[in-house]
Amino acid sequence: MERKQVVCGNWKMHKTSQEAVDYINRLAPLVTASKSNVLLSVPFTSITKAVSAAQNTKITIGAQNVHPELEGAFTGEISSIMLRAEGADFVVIGHSERRQLFKETDEFINKKVIRSLEDDLIPILCVGETAKQRKENQTEKLLQDQIEKGLKNIPESGVQDLIIAYEPVWAIGTGHVATPEMAQEAHAFIRKLLTSVFSKKVAQKIPILYGGSVKPDNFKKIIEQKDIDGALVGGASLEPEAFAQIVNLG
Ligand code: PGA
Repeated sequence: MERKQVVCGNWKMHKTSQEAVDYINRLAPLVTASKSNVLLSVPFTSITKAVSAAQNTKITIGAQNVHPELEGAFTGEISSIMLRAEGADFVVIGHSERRQLFKETDEFINKKVIRSLEDDLIPILCVGETAKQRKENQTEKLLQDQIEKGLKNIPESGVQDLIIAYEPVWAIGTGHVATPEMAQEAHAFIRKLLTSVFSKKVAQKIPILYGGSVKPDNFKKIIEQKDIDGALVGGASLEPEAFAQIVNLG
């Protein structure tokens, strides 16, 4: 079955709004022929200008986080409605940095996924094991927990637009990319989990992206794998030329 192919840049805490505009103006002409959907997950402060710079290009703009409530006394947080109002089309949820540095739990992450789906914001749910968990053969157990808890109480009919990102924590920002075989094995396992959470038909349609030290020189072998449908790219997405090379390998 044909699945959507997606390459998403995750800028993390990088770039002012003006830098975002300059970047998009450089990236847009480099990716016109790509068969991948090109996504950029930008800081909140850049969304408005990035959305307008990305108009009439292949590039789709999204956010890096969202709060599950629509409004209220949550200082420093942002809602799905606010993101939609600025033109964001998707949101990264449960990135390992949010889980580790900001103590986000699977239950909290689940609420964000539900809210995003309700408000037409495509969630990119991130999952992945630490080096210690892999060493102790806990990878499958951990992935099962993160997928089952993260996708709890979501009806099959509500997930047309869900995206999953498998990002082994030990590969993020370290230069230690997973081997294509290792990544494929985890992706196949995640697809099996999605089959049991939803159905085979739905699981076959959900794009699963690999993330963790993706670079122009290692992505070709990764994207050739059967269950790998694209990438979530951190460091290598900060320069439009390098990011375009990755996008165009897809
Ligand atoms: P990296 O980050 O490409 O710099 O390893 C990936 C991510 O955190 O999404």
